[in-house]
Amino acid sequence: METVACPQHWNTLGAISLNRRHQELINAPDVGVDVRSIDFVKPFGTLLIAESLRIFVLNRAERGLTTHLIGENQIIKSTSNALSYLKYFGFFHFVRLSYGNKTGIAPGSNTYIPITEIKFENLIKKAEDIQFQDTIKRKCDKLATIIVNDDYSKLLVGYCFREIIRNVYEHSHANYCVIMAQKYSNQVEIAILDTGIGIYESLRSADCVVEPQHALRYALLPGVSRALNLESKNRWANSGFGLYVLSELGKKMGAFEICSSGNILSCYPKHENINTLNYSGTGIRLVVSLKNAEYFPNVLQSIVEQGEQETFTRTGIRHSASMSTHGLWG
Ligand SMILES: Nc1ncnc2c1ncn2[C@@H]1O[C@H](COP(=O)(O)OP(=O)(O)OP(=O)(O)O)[C@@H](O)[C@H]1O
Ligand SMILES: [Mg+2]
Repeated sequence: METVACPQHWNTLGAISLNRRHQELINAPDVGVDVRSIDFVKPFGTLLIAESLRIFVLNRAERGLTTHLIGENQIIKSTSNALSYLKYFGFFHFVRLSYGNKTGIAPGSNTYIPITEIKFENLIKKAEDIQFQDTIKRKCDKLATIIVNDDYSKLLVGYCFREIIRNVYEHSHANYCVIMAQKYSNQVEIAILDTGIGIYESLRSADCVVEPQHALRYALLPGVSRALNLESKNRWANSGFGLYVLSELGKKMGAFEICSSGNILSCYPKHENINTLNYSGTGIRLVVSLKNAEYFPNVLQSIVEQGEQETFTRTGIRHSASMSTHGLWG
């Protein structure tokens, strides 16, 4: 039997190393997954690990190869908070290693939103005659109220969820995404993953010429969109400002990471770095401070204005952000 030793820290780096191990062992006849040394779990790391492990288990199962959890008895007796948390919100069922609660049972609280699948068909059914984008907005406002209480924090967190989830719906070709969030020391970490075509493929499909290794940085520029509509006054029309604003918010208020098309780009207040990560789809991690949430409308306005200024150095793009990016609707 080969062993996949899960990392101690379920953050981005932990997820990258585990993903490499999955690739090494994809054809091994029998694999044991060892989760006993987990120390802490963060939303983005956990979602990346969840998708990597789920694909690993399912891909192997299709070919008759077995994958199982190591040391179930020890896990039951373990006093690890991280393990109890994973067990409680249905992580193991999500990755098809039947153990703990079923996914979707844990309701979330003002400190976390558990792994939740957002299926677009269900939303469409509920939307009926109202605009689907408005339905996404309402869903995101509701998600925000699970984890934050005051109006400005709800505005901030709802905005971030909405811009990321709209992108999945509009560009990824995936019919669902998975989300997770946690609040710690006055910060909220939001994580969203889809299993769609990825940023590079999406831009390429619209003849946006860019090399795969530059696709992530390019997508973060204001005015870059595969679906640019220079004329539309529709408040949801794409202006190519969504990822730009989210990345600037992350740089100013905490952190922003995006993984897609074979790379992961990490942006922090003072530095950026890019790493390889073999994930087919798109994932975003956004950390924002709630300490000065009341300044969010002003911060947003100044980021948008700066982006609009930057676009004047380039032609053939939209020079003004959509109403939705401005935070205006209704
Ligand atoms: N989840 C995703 N899957 C695939 N491609 C994506 C995804 N998110 C973004 N993209 C690509 O990156 C481009 C830039 O995204 P961004 O959010 O900045 O602009 P937009 O969505 O086109 O316009 P706006 O956000 O102003 O409505 C998109 O046009 C699309 O090509
Ligand atoms: Mg967008």
